[in-house]
Amino acid sequence: MIRIEKLTKTFDTFQAVDHMSFEVPQGAFLVLVGPSGCGKSTMLRMLAGLELPSGGTVQFGDDTVSDGDKGWMIDPAKRNTGLVFQSYALWPHMTVAGNVDWPLKVAGMSKPDRQARVSEVLAMLGIEALAARYPNEISGGQQQRVAIARMIAPRPAILLFDEPLSNLDAKLRVEMRTELLRVHRATGATSVYVTHDQVEAMTMASHVAVLNGGKIEQFGTPEELVRDPATAFVATFVGTPPANLVPVSMLPEQHAKGLRADALAMYRPENITSSAEASANSMAFEFAEASPVAGRTMLTGTQGPLRVTAVVDNAPRLQIGDMVHFGLPETPAAMFAPNGERLS
Ligand SMILES: Nc1ncnc2c1ncn2[C@@H]1O[C@H](COP(=O)(O)OP(=O)(O)OP(=O)(O)O)[C@@H](O)[C@H]1O
Ligand SMILES: [Mg+2]
Repeated sequence: MIRIEKLTKTFDTFQAVDHMSFEVPQGAFLVLVGPSGCGKSTMLRMLAGLELPSGGTVQFGDDTVSDGDKGWMIDPAKRNTGLVFQSYALWPHMTVAGNVDWPLKVAGMSKPDRQARVSEVLAMLGIEALAARYPNEISGGQQQRVAIARMIAPRPAILLFDEPLSNLDAKLRVEMRTELLRVHRATGATSVYVTHDQVEAMTMASHVAVLNGGKIEQFGTPEELVRDPATAFVATFVGTPPANLVPVSMLPEQHAKGLRADALAMYRPENITSSAEASANSMAFEFAEASPVAGRTMLTGTQGPLRVTAVVDNAPRLQIGDMVHFGLPETPAAMFAPNGERLS
């Protein structure tokens, strides 16, 4: 349904998006996730037709909608896409119903059809009761629902979201994730969702593209990324909590045996044990923080710049300044080269 090939965007000499390629089927919920400045919004703007690629192509179904190599693209209004930003400006002088009605009017839909469709989408988002209110008379979360209702009203085939929930409080954000997925399913659309929050990505996505420095570090399902991270960046970016990377040079002798001396060894938090006492094969860390998670304890220790997090059943009682000893499994879950490339 959406296929991008070698998509590139250069601002002056800076490559914001650097030869990205992937494809997702109809109905996919693709999440683009990565740190600030990695090119997520630029990518989404190229999908929306708001930004002409410097190279590469965007295809929706069988249609090429942007061709950076030839330097042309189809108008945003002719792409059958809907777009919601973080700062979803509703039209302040129009009611909720008026806001949702506007794109239908622009599309030339008849009045009775528009009325029916407005009622339908307001009901889908649970905001029928707000139809006659103005944007300044409803809450931030309600405004967000109106923005989504307005986006889906004209039945776009592709829904584009740029950090749409980041203005909401934590609880509402979690509720709205479910809500958005429900809307996505109900419309049958293909969605592309941008966030810097890996938890949001991992909970919502059917497909994830992890971006870093304008490049795709890995493309896959949330399960694949956690089970089989392709790079050191992905290993430490996804998962709750993410995996730990320990330089082989810092490992206890027994553990380092047979491993490449300059490599990074990956250990999953759930496979590390903790103790207040040192043992032959444990590593000593300064206790940094502990928090309860689902009946277990998430425990973080530091050794210089190295931070290691374990999720354990029986955590020793620790205070700042105490030492904690982590027992690592004999074999690391993965190995990475110093440049982040996966070795094994
Ligand atoms: N119009 C522009 N001119 C020059 N540089 C730009 C322009 N738009 C974006 N950039 C640069 O391209 C890079 C990617 O920007 P982009 O907005 O895509 O990042 P992002 O991943 O969405 O980040 P954030 O999570 O902070 O929103 C950044 O370094 C940004 O400064
Ligand atoms: Mg952005």
